[in-house]
Amino acid sequence: MPELTHFYDAFQPSHYDVYLDVDRGTKHISGKTTITGTAKTPAIAIHQKYLTITAVQTAAGADLPFTVDDANDAVRITLPAAGEATFSITYSAPLTDTMMGIYPSYYEINGEKKQLIGTQFETNAARQAFPCVDEPEAKATFSLAIKYDEKPGETIISNMPEERVENGVHYFQQTVRMASYLVAFAFGELQSKMTTTKSGVKIGVFATKAHNPNELDFPLDIAKRSIEFYEDFYHTPYPLPHSWQLGLPDFSAGAMENWGLVTYREAYLTLDPDNTTLEMKQLVATVIAHELAHQWFGDLVTMKWWDDLWLNESFANMMEYVAVDALQPDWHIWETFQTSEVPAALQRDATDGVQSVHVPVENPAEIDSLFDGAIVYAKGARMLVMVRALIGDDALRAGLKDYLGAHSYGNATGADLWAALGKASGMDIGGIMHSWLDQPGYPVVTAAVKDGQLTLSQQQFFIGEGKDIGRQWQIPLNSNYDAAPAIFSEKTATLGDYQQLRAAAGEPFRVNVGNNSHFIVQYDSTLLKDILDHAADLDNIAQLQILQDLGLLAEGGKTSYANLAPLLPRFADSHSAIVTTALYRAAGSLRKFVTPDSPEENNLRALYDQLSAGQVTRLGWLPQASDTNDDQMVRPYVLSAALYAKNPQAIAAAHEIFNQNQDKLASLPADVRGLILTNEVRNFGTPALIDQLLQAYRQTTDGSFKSNIRAAVTATTDPAEVAKIIAQFEDADTVKPQDLRGWFANLLHNHRGEQAAWDWLRNDWAWLAKTVGGDMEFPTYITVVAGVFRTPERLAEFKTFFDPKRDNPALTREIAMDTKVIESRVKLVEAEQDAVNAAVAKLVK
Ligand code: BES
Ligand code: ZN
Repeated sequence: MPELTHFYDAFQPSHYDVYLDVDRGTKHISGKTTITGTAKTPAIAIHQKYLTITAVQTAAGADLPFTVDDANDAVRITLPAAGEATFSITYSAPLTDTMMGIYPSYYEINGEKKQLIGTQFETNAARQAFPCVDEPEAKATFSLAIKYDEKPGETIISNMPEERVENGVHYFQQTVRMASYLVAFAFGELQSKMTTTKSGVKIGVFATKAHNPNELDFPLDIAKRSIEFYEDFYHTPYPLPHSWQLGLPDFSAGAMENWGLVTYREAYLTLDPDNTTLEMKQLVATVIAHELAHQWFGDLVTMKWWDDLWLNESFANMMEYVAVDALQPDWHIWETFQTSEVPAALQRDATDGVQSVHVPVENPAEIDSLFDGAIVYAKGARMLVMVRALIGDDALRAGLKDYLGAHSYGNATGADLWAALGKASGMDIGGIMHSWLDQPGYPVVTAAVKDGQLTLSQQQFFIGEGKDIGRQWQIPLNSNYDAAPAIFSEKTATLGDYQQLRAAAGEPFRVNVGNNSHFIVQYDSTLLKDILDHAADLDNIAQLQILQDLGLLAEGGKTSYANLAPLLPRFADSHSAIVTTALYRAAGSLRKFVTPDSPEENNLRALYDQLSAGQVTRLGWLPQASDTNDDQMVRPYVLSAALYAKNPQAIAAAHEIFNQNQDKLASLPADVRGLILTNEVRNFGTPALIDQLLQAYRQTTDGSFKSNIRAAVTATTDPAEVAKIIAQFEDADTVKPQDLRGWFANLLHNHRGEQAAWDWLRNDWAWLAKTVGGDMEFPTYITVVAGVFRTPERLAEFKTFFDPKRDNPALTREIAMDTKVIESRVKLVEAEQDAVNAAVAKLVK
């Protein structure tokens, strides 16, 4: 068993001189790291992983005894004495293709294969690049000196500017005091665009030369304005000379906040400014804003230990919306929060066995297996949105200024943040947040009129089986009636005589107005009818909330989908993107009740036709100059619904547009390109078309076009083409491992691809484990499967295959959760199928 001590306790580094010589040809790194710090005892441990250490020496060059302890990722060194020490470690290491540590990215320009070297160190891979105390609290300054098999025209960048080049060695300015997981560098043939903020920070966007230079413009503008925004919002200047953004062709996560050199998946950074969806712009902007939020919250002030990783991530996840809302107010990005983070959190957090936001961990490898995006990001962000709504922006900013000031270049915990926000607001934020962060799950608040009294109660909400152990939350209620408490912390509350309250308020009773608190509401029939009768007065978020809460209640068996279905037509003609999104999410959840190609599915298709007809007529197939932002986002939803409905005019219209643009598919309007391609493959597909699309996929650098092609190709109904697609899964020249999950998910969602995709996963599991097994994304392949399966047969197959894998610590929790997810869906389908399908039939007759 590895020992779980923090190396920082015995040795506190203050400075590293890191020398690296990277040879791409031989895939070999040789290095020498000189470390200065304070030893509490002569016997210390320094992190290393996969390093071959040849010498440990004092500053004077005397050899020091050392032993390698791979079980603990350590080299153990005995110093001459405790106290201030400087010593060097000489080693060599492999350059591996794991997308961790120092690794190559592969890409092509005009058929010529190229490489770009980059780094990814969070959470614990800096130790694969150089020996260090690889813990967030072990902050130190770093001086990097890097040599590589350099060719003319190549560039190298890092956290800090280059100071000088001597004998082919690039020396970088010493960093500020920072954590090892934030060190980064990259080299290869790069193009870049630069600008400067009002305060003089140099901003740059870097990418391979495979991209059209204009793809760098949008991210450059967003990065510049984000830094300017945060300097103002945090009342704290950006402390480094530059902020570089770099797109890496191979990237395991989405993006990474290395201080001064943020790295991104290309699809989340570069975009074609002349043909891109508003959604894609919003995605890129929020990703950049997220990583740049971390430059302060995470980089300047870092969590003390990995158990508070949520603090970094939840906070940055909230700030991406705060920042983008300030940069692009016309986007109404907080509305998008309601259709992205909110449903993800509410769905996942309702499954018994889910983790809480804050989970104590010792071993950083363990955190990878506990790291649940829907909880740490989505629920965590929702928690902070709740705090922000409670204390307001002024107190938030004052508290943050305090927090950042007190812990700059140092570390902090969640408790430190609550203390600062508590002080700024005069509220017991820590007390309120404790009930949300340290408990899994969330409550359903039941609002009912009982014996004439308006009453509230709270109870944990579950989808599927859940053990109610009487958890309670301190719920910010945000009611429109003054009689409701601001914080509802009891099990039940009686607010007073309903008729009187209703008359005095003049509007239906509601709680969670704005949907900023993490709970759902079940109104009794009196209250719900009152709300629905006045639905036209409700804003977009309130309308979405009706659909979303009823959908969740139906998932949890607290109401029936048969009651939800008749409500859908009321929202069909909404011009709001988020109401439309919620509507088609609700409609989509009815699909699990129908067998593909059955009469019941035909009824459901007819319902989709009804729902979409008016909007298809209003909006048409092609973007118009007069489109509002909402129109642009509504159009793909309603066209997609018309295509699912097999509406003949829709199929013909898409086919016609395809025919007119056969030779320039990339230039089809990005909003509808995916639908046009998918329609073509599904209804008019030939092997030649699939080949043409796969070829285009390999050639384009446009992430949206790639995902459009992926969606289209995987929609094939031809078994031979399905087999051809699967044959590409393990060919990195077509499908990069970072993109494979998307391919797998798309094919599994296609009824005609499901069996083959599932067979592939089971047959080639060993290959998959070898390729992405060390990755945080690995368990999400199981999540994808659980998102699709809905029959007892599939449930049995799922269990047969995954039960024996439960002892893999990276998979244990996910397998348990997903077994529950499928079980509850199978039960729900069995129980509700007839009623739901009858309700749909009634709507379309
Ligand atoms: N710091 C994370 C990436 C990360 C987290 C790497 C944990 C290793 C372990 C980064 O800031 C991040 O959150 N990236 C997101 C994208 C983001 C825009 C939501 C990701 O990679 O999914
Ligand atoms: Zn993050």
